[in-house]
Amino acid sequence: APTPPPDLKTCGKATISDGPLVGYTCCPPPMPTNFDNIPYYKFPSMTKLRIRSPAHAVDEEYIAKYNLAISRMKDLDKTEPLNPLGFKQQANIHCAYCNGAYVFGDKVLQVHNSWLFFPFHRWYLYFYERILGKLIDDPTFALPYWNWDHPKGMRLPPMFDREGTSIYDERRNQQVRNGTVMDLGSFGDKVETTQLQLMSNNLTLMYRQMVTNAPCPLLFFGAPYVLGNNVEAPGTIENIPHIPVHIWAGTVRGSTFPNGDTSYGEDMGNFYSAGLDSVFYCHHGNVDRMWNEWKAIGGKRRDLSEKDWLNSEFFFYDENKKPYRVKVRDCLDAKKMGYDYAPMPTPWRNFKP
Ligand code: C2O
Repeated sequence: APTPPPDLKTCGKATISDGPLVGYTCCPPPMPTNFDNIPYYKFPSMTKLRIRSPAHAVDEEYIAKYNLAISRMKDLDKTEPLNPLGFKQQANIHCAYCNGAYVFGDKVLQVHNSWLFFPFHRWYLYFYERILGKLIDDPTFALPYWNWDHPKGMRLPPMFDREGTSIYDERRNQQVRNGTVMDLGSFGDKVETTQLQLMSNNLTLMYRQMVTNAPCPLLFFGAPYVLGNNVEAPGTIENIPHIPVHIWAGTVRGSTFPNGDTSYGEDMGNFYSAGLDSVFYCHHGNVDRMWNEWKAIGGKRRDLSEKDWLNSEFFFYDENKKPYRVKVRDCLDAKKMGYDYAPMPTPWRNFKP
């Protein structure tokens, strides 16, 4: 059966992965609205596509605009703690859908490790981007994307490495700063190699995940999801490099923060806190872009046609604080949703092992 939208009335405490057993609260704030009758979302009319650019190549004007939008979002946390558009509330959306806050009887909702992964995150970014645009009065504002499938993008985008700015995150792993090249295939261990070799390994890995290992929809999107059944069968890209990038950017689990707190991988390395690092949405921009790129390769690479996927639903607040239900079937075409990606070459296409 398709996965229904979560029942907000039964939202409970979330559990931090590998963390303390006391629950973590990340349910959406109560809103004066009829939770039993949330309407379906309709795309507002638009005149111009929002174009998402590669994060390593944006100009100072964009960086300023982006920082301003994020700082306004963070201000909402202080001035209106129950505003669902606040920075923490937005991060909590991810926590609630991923750390067991939404239950249906004895079944727990989980949007990772299955075919819900791509559509959930696409809708999540869709609203996040509109909220940011609204906060700075720019209806064409678009998120940046972390172009880690291209050698120029295989490091933390420099704009995120400026201390004191609103998109800087102190709880990020310090090892990823100052232009360190990332290893897209690593779940934590470091291999000694040259930067050049690392980049070429990354391209070979991208070819494998996009082409060789994902010739058909179920391998790319991940296994069918049935509510409460945590199959843990992610698609190729969700598994690698999506997870390694999270682990890379988060502090090592079990290490200690300067204030003495134990790290559970914050922020990027744990579902409950990942959305507290702005680079999360930049990372997921590229994950989302890979969905488009994968379909563009051709062959049997197209969207799933299963009704249980197409009719699965999620719940989000739009930029006007209105709650909506959305369906997977309505997010298959990014342009119809009003955004697109500024093209970048995909050199991994020539890295057949
Ligand atoms: Cu919902 Cu990158 O994880």
